[in-house]
Formats: sequence, C-alpha cells, structure tokens
Amino acid sequence: SAGLAVRRIGTHVVCFRETGSTNTVASQLAAEGAAEGTVVLADAQTGGKGRLGRRWESPPGVNVYCSVILRPPISPLHSPQLTLLSAVATAEAIERTSGLVPAIKWPNDILANGFKVAGMLSELSAETERVEYLVLGIGVNINMERDQFPDGLRYPASSLALEAGRTVERIPFVRSLLESLDRLYDEYLLKGFPPVRDAWLARSAVMGRRVTVDGGAGILAGTVEGIDEIGALLVRTAGGSLERVLAGDVSLEG
Ligand code: ATP
Ligand code: BTN
Repeated sequence: SAGLAVRRIGTHVVCFRETGSTNTVASQLAAEGAAEGTVVLADAQTGGKGRLGRRWESPPGVNVYCSVILRPPISPLHSPQLTLLSAVATAEAIERTSGLVPAIKWPNDILANGFKVAGMLSELSAETERVEYLVLGIGVNINMERDQFPDGLRYPASSLALEAGRTVERIPFVRSLLESLDRLYDEYLLKGFPPVRDAWLARSAVMGRRVTVDGGAGILAGTVEGIDEIGALLVRTAGGSLERVLAGDVSLEG
C-alpha cells in the first residue's frame, strides 16, 4: 500500500494471479473476521460473477477485478446505498485515469460513450437489524481488446482503452479507485447518504430519461424522477403512479 492515501479501504490488500471470484474470496475472509477495508484483487477470474446470476468475462492481464469488505453500521435495507457509492467511486477513477466522462446507469453499470465498461456486484451477510459485512465487487474493463468480448453480450460493452484510444495503466487506476472509495465511504459514515446520492445523480445516465425496467416479474415503462433514501429507482409511469424499483435491468428509450 506504499503511498496510498487511505484511512480504511486498502489498508490491507490481498492479490491473486488467478482466483474463482474475488467476491467469493472476500466473503470467506469477511466470514473469518477480516478487517473492514480489506481489498481482494485478481489478475484473472475463472468464475467471475455478474448481476442476476450472470457470468463476468474476466481474462488475465487486461482488466481490474476488485472486491472490498465493508462493515457499515447500517440496516440491510440501506445496503443499496453502498452499491451506488461504489459506482460513483468507479466513475471518478475512470474519469481521472482515462479522461473519459462516464455515466452511471442504475443501479451499477458504468457507461463510456454509451458502452458498458464496468459493473458492480454487492454481496451481503446480515441479520435482521444490522449488516454483518458487505462485499463490494467492482469489475472494470481497462485494456480489454475488441476480440476478447464474447458475441451477443447483453449490453454493448467496451473497455477504457478502446473508448479513450490509449492504454490505461492498471496500478494507477486501482490506486485512484481505492482512494475514491475511501474518501466517499468516510463521508458516508459522517454525513449519511445525501452526498452520495447527489454525486450519483450528477453522473446519472437515467435521471429525467424515459426508460423501461425489466424487473423479472414484469416490464415497467416511465420517466426516472430520481432515487429514494434507500437507493431505489423512482419511475413515474404513463398512468401517473410513482414506482420504486429495487432490482432489474434498465433500458434507456430514445
Ligand atoms: P443468462 O442465463 O441470463 O443468459 P448467463 O449467465 O448466460 O446469463 P450471459 O448471458 O453471458 O450470462 O450474460 C452476461 C452478461 O454480462 C453479458 O451479456 C454482458 O452484458 C455482461 N458482461 C459479462 N462480462 C462482461 C464484461 N467483462 N464487460 C461488460 N459486460 C460484461
Ligand atoms: C455486473 O454488471 O453484472 C456486475 C459485474 C461485477 C464483476 C466484479 S469483478 C470483481 C467481483 N468479483 C466477481 O466475481 N464479480 C465482481
């Protein structure tokens, strides 16, 4: 951690050349009592996990696969707030290291020039009243080449290098990501969700936009009015009702 300007996140870092999933490793370490702020990094994953049970392409040598253990003093109901926090931190790191201006698509996709370049997967261990630990998993396509993406990806995907037109160094990227996470988490513990929500809304690709949301059980169409105090997406339907969405796939219309 030489020269890393952090208080909590990144004070302990565990690195693998290859592992199944950094989220799985981090969950195991957390269950064994690892300190808040412990970070797991891998050069490659053999079983990278995406949202909704999907796969995450995780080839060696080109990307960042990172999982962070947090022990926030909050109820499990509020855990989506931390996924939004990780999206803001990732967007900040992308902007600082690549010069791209990324947009966040709820809840946790990061887009550059409209292509998905990063995703987050949070996993939680909780009792009714409080979070025991939370693992924030962050995957960023840094220097992945066009031919490393499988055909038929659900969203049009890309990498920072492909969009910025130049190689992006991974170590400075990770440094920037951990420093952003640490600063935002510190602020979150002091001031709660509002600063994170404001930063998220400022980078949102969905705010004020017409969207369709596939929540698994059905499809909802409407205009995004914001996010509520727990991190749910607020969608105003054509019929005028305000719907809260906690999980699903969002598509931008028009
Ligand atoms: P399902 O059973 O729902 O079809 P699956 O487990 O077969 O899902 P895929 O259909 O391959 O998994 O879904 C993974 C999706 O995640 C891809 O379509 C793509 O949108 C996204 N994805 C996976 N890896 C990456 C990556 N490295 N960068 C960007 N997007 C990715
Ligand atoms: C998504 O957009 O579907 C979420 C992708 C999350 C990928 C990261 S890579 C590091 C961590 N380990 C995993 O297995 N998944 C997350």
